[in-house]
Amino acid sequence: MHVVVYTTATRAASAAASLVIGHLSRKPELVVGLPTGNTPIPMYRALVRAHVNGRADFSRATTFNLDEFVGLGKGDAGSYHSFMASHLFDHVNLARGRAHVLDGRAADWREEIAAYERRIRRSGGLDLAVLGIGGNGHLGFNEPAEALEAQTHRVTLRPETRRANAQLFGGRWQAVPTHALSMGIGTILRARSVVLLATGPAKARIVARALSGRVSTRVPASLLQAHPDVVVVLDRDAAAALPARRF
Ligand code: GLP
Repeated sequence: MHVVVYTTATRAASAAASLVIGHLSRKPELVVGLPTGNTPIPMYRALVRAHVNGRADFSRATTFNLDEFVGLGKGDAGSYHSFMASHLFDHVNLARGRAHVLDGRAADWREEIAAYERRIRRSGGLDLAVLGIGGNGHLGFNEPAEALEAQTHRVTLRPETRRANAQLFGGRWQAVPTHALSMGIGTILRARSVVLLATGPAKARIVARALSGRVSTRVPASLLQAHPDVVVVLDRDAAAALPARRF
């Protein structure tokens, strides 16, 4: 794992955006997995800025978001689809037909997850997965558990995860859906490259656990230790609990 630490969250987010832009310019038809959450918002801002300045062309790229709430979809307030529209899709030249988000409103969720997995495979798999990390170590919505699902699947969200997402639902965690659809840990780990972005003091403990602790499905992000091409982009606060000079 290659760990880079920046003084501020904004600088870390810009660095993550630069990594994405680098991948995109080396391979314009990049297939990239995208995260939601507060952490990537400044990264998306930097990507939009780069696009406006002519430094990022998404016209041949394909994106697959990591997850979506069950019961919510395109146009629903609180959905990750709406999040992506307002932070990225509406502002760059990404073809809408190639910007994939799981449909949490699909009448048949089993078909939806199978079709998503098929679409990812047909696109040749992820070249790059850009990830955030949940306070409990989750990736996408792959929650800590004794065993994880390799493929895209339906999950029951843990209470701490519903609380962490309350902001999207007017601060009411009870309003956060109880279930979600998520790309599987196998699909994420098959990405040829990974960029993990984490910022802020609230992530310090889990970042240290994921990067320097033992590999365990109880901390899904720790599985990234086994991936051959991971860049971890942190700000100073998120890096604060890492053992000195380990990286
Ligand atoms: C959600 C998403 C994750 C994301 C996590 C962290 O639960 N499903 O993909 O990494 O939140 O969010 P934040 O960046 O707001 O801490």
